Amino acid sequence: MMALEHDSPAAGHWSRRQYEDLFIATSGDRRSERVAWVAEEEPRASEVLAFLVAHRIDTEWELENIVVAGTVRRQGVGARLLSEFIAHARAERGSGIFLEVRESNQSARAFYRKAGFEETGLRKSYYSNPPEDAIVCGLRLS
Ligand SMILES: CC(C)(COP(=O)(O)OP(=O)(O)OC[C@H]1O[C@@H](n2cnc3c(N)ncnc32)[C@H](O)[C@@H]1OP(=O)(O)O)[C@@H](O)C(=O)NCCC(=O)NCCS
Repeated sequence: MMALEHDSPAAGHWSRRQYEDLFIATSGDRRSERVAWVAEEEPRASEVLAFLVAHRIDTEWELENIVVAGTVRRQGVGARLLSEFIAHARAERGSGIFLEVRESNQSARAFYRKAGFEETGLRKSYYSNPPEDAIVCGLRLS
């Protein structure tokens, strides 16, 4: 996951510690559940082609990051991962999903629009390295 993120300047960037924390068992309180899913290529299932990380805050979900390997972009891998996540959030009776995306990240913005997300707001100077505004996107589930 870290290697994929490293090769994707447009992705959200986390420290090793933040990735490691994903795999530490939590209290089991599902209202603050975090999920991390990967897409692997069969039969070489050790190769991670994409990942998605999301965090539940009561009935709302924040999609924190989604990254598809550069070599397999535009082949439906991201859409498949995202639709699995949306189905999971619906099954868990989630009320909505929100996320932030860099204003200049036109491919991700098109990707989210195609999945049904609406651009609902702007957070000034949300990002650093390089500094940039964030577009807030939302998908209502109920
Ligand atoms: C955004 C990202 C996850 C999309 O994953 P993907 O597997 O390439 O996307 P898909 O093939 O499933 O595309 C689904 C739809 O999204 C839209 N889309 C995806 N990439 C696009 C692009 N570069 N330009 C325009 N539209 C695009 C299209 O509507 C596409 O449907 P189509 O191919 O039938 O036209 C991928 O480009 C990525 O990893 N980007 C770098 C990391 C990143 O920016 N993550 C988002 C952080 S907020």
